[in-house]
Amino acid sequence: MRYFTNVHDLGDLKSALAEAFEIKKDRYKYETLGKHKTCLLIFFNNSLRTRLSTQKAARNLGMDVIVLDVNQGAWKLETERGVIMDGDKSEHLLEAIPVMASYCDIIGVRSFAHFENREDDYTEKILNQFIKYSGKPVFSMEAATGHPLQAFADLITIEEYKKKDRPKVVLTWAPHPRALPQAVPNSFADWMNEADVDFVITHPEGYELDPKFVRGAKVEYNQMKAFEGADFIYAKNWACPGVTRPADYGKVLSKDMNWTVDAAHMAVTNDAFFMHCLPVRRNMIVTDEVIEAPTSLVIPEAANREISATVVLKRMLEGLE
Ligand code: CP
Repeated sequence: MRYFTNVHDLGDLKSALAEAFEIKKDRYKYETLGKHKTCLLIFFNNSLRTRLSTQKAARNLGMDVIVLDVNQGAWKLETERGVIMDGDKSEHLLEAIPVMASYCDIIGVRSFAHFENREDDYTEKILNQFIKYSGKPVFSMEAATGHPLQAFADLITIEEYKKKDRPKVVLTWAPHPRALPQAVPNSFADWMNEADVDFVITHPEGYELDPKFVRGAKVEYNQMKAFEGADFIYAKNWACPGVTRPADYGKVLSKDMNWTVDAAHMAVTNDAFFMHCLPVRRNMIVTDEVIEAPTSLVIPEAANREISATVVLKRMLEGLE
């Protein structure tokens, strides 16, 4: 595998899940595969889980790891071609990318949406420059419109905890004080649409996700109705994706606390498991009671980030020339 940005890069999901469970049983099974190979992790944005789990995954495979926080200690990077660089940005991404690539074999990139220009975000302007100019395999550690390592870990978690062959999985919008990207809900939808689940998305009007990710999923605007009989509730906030009104792209249209996942919401489900990618704002997205309940999977879900990253890096190592 040369690139990992969406569900299709992984091929057959059943094989990928089988590989994940094989690695979960013995995470050091391929500990020599990455000998003398270096994984460079580049962060344009903050991270706790991705930073730690991806380093751990690379080390499970015997790789060396270099971590660069672009905004802490590196030169400030210009990303637009053609600008006169007379401001505070000392280096252009077009030089920085091949230089960084010369020190490693595989590159992971975290670069969130900027919410300045929908097209720039939805064409993955930063991530695609790494793919185009590095000459190295590149994987997303959450880009402007997708977070595939998270969605793969979510699928592994659902597979581990499901009590029926085809569970009902509900992705629900929930309130948040600030504008957040659509990367997590987009990727979650991308993956659930390929998985063997009954998938429903619920959100207030105006928060419609991009049709490229929604595909054939059912969209239900009545959150309580969507929750009825659900086996898994996946909560996440996202800012307006600008699908129905492009001018609203990146705006916070609602902070309606009626959408906070609480015990009353969970009561209409089929004793559903609660999921969230973390970090989570308690008592905005979900109440203390729900996130602390035995049915909350937020910790095992985060732990599975090591497994999803190990599978992805293993496949990338196997694909090196
Ligand atoms: N879920 C997730 O990607 O967490 P971090 O932002 O802490 O990496």
